[in-house]
Amino acid sequence: MHHSIYLAIETSCDETAAAVVADGRRVLSSHIVSQTAIHQVFGGVVPEVAARQHVETVNEVIDIALKSAQVNPSQLSGIACTNGPGLIGTLLVGLSAAKALSWAWDVPLITIDHLLAHVCANYLDTDLEPPFIALLVSGGHTQIIHFESYSAGRILGQTLDDAAGEAFDKVARLLGLEYPGGPAIDKVAKLGDCKAFKFPEGVVSGYDFSFSGLKTAVLRTVEKLPKPLPIEDLAASFQDAVTRVLVKKTLLAQREFGVQRIVLAGGVAANSDLRRKLKEQSDVQVYFPQLEFCTDNAAMVGAAAHFCGVQASLDARAYSRN
Ligand code: KG4
Ligand code: ZN
Repeated sequence: MHHSIYLAIETSCDETAAAVVADGRRVLSSHIVSQTAIHQVFGGVVPEVAARQHVETVNEVIDIALKSAQVNPSQLSGIACTNGPGLIGTLLVGLSAAKALSWAWDVPLITIDHLLAHVCANYLDTDLEPPFIALLVSGGHTQIIHFESYSAGRILGQTLDDAAGEAFDKVARLLGLEYPGGPAIDKVAKLGDCKAFKFPEGVVSGYDFSFSGLKTAVLRTVEKLPKPLPIEDLAASFQDAVTRVLVKKTLLAQREFGVQRIVLAGGVAANSDLRRKLKEQSDVQVYFPQLEFCTDNAAMVGAAAHFCGVQASLDARAYSRN
């Protein structure tokens, strides 16, 4: 017997995703259609192209999610949908679909913040409960957040310039690796020596971060090196600099606030070096989502709806940044 069943929709960037989630913990279905191959030729996401793709696929993705969960609309507690931050044109596709179904089926609409959803991915298949410190590292954000309750997160620090994922993507491009850069760097770094190059961590006080100096340092090094470049060593040294500072500040926050759990969230939470370092260096429990729920997906939106959702009206708006 489930207490809640949410249909969830996610279209904030270049993944069209729908999922059905029970009680915020159990994924009854999760279907993701990625546009990566379409945007790869441009080296990054083209917003207008992304929005058109979502229009083409969103209905089918929702249909597949409902069918494979064997759930019908009358069983739903609500329809949850990401309404920001993200690309405004793509968000509107998912939000419009969610509104239409909410109205047609007479079930509540729940709008969900994308960053909160990434954190809530950690509730899937676990017994995680607040309080905890979250390290949220995605393509657009890098934040350390103190969660005292399910919906009350206080941002302790964030990046002053590039997001961690953005740094991965830019450095990957510099090294001639394919988009998205994070997985590509993660893979080749395994073959390299992380001590080969000394890159700066970026000295910023408190819980804030800065990755633009690191990116420039990699650029300067690449310019001076003879070709062919030692891609593996460069990737490993860069990755080490990023993950070192992320882990250091996360542990600092965990100790200062005396919480017993650390939660990793966002696309960069898929990084194997970050996961390993955090596990090794922490003396409290570390949570990270399964790989498929680190990058954009709708199951995390369904979890967020259960634990932190409030009903929205049918004139709810999408927002590109918060
Ligand atoms: O959370 P996400 O899917 O989308 C946003 O909300 O931004 O994060 C995408 C970011 C990209 O920058 C991608 O390069 C990065 O996550 N990423 C990784 C890995 N997998 C994805 N970064 C480092 N290592 C990975 N294994
Ligand atoms: Zn995301």
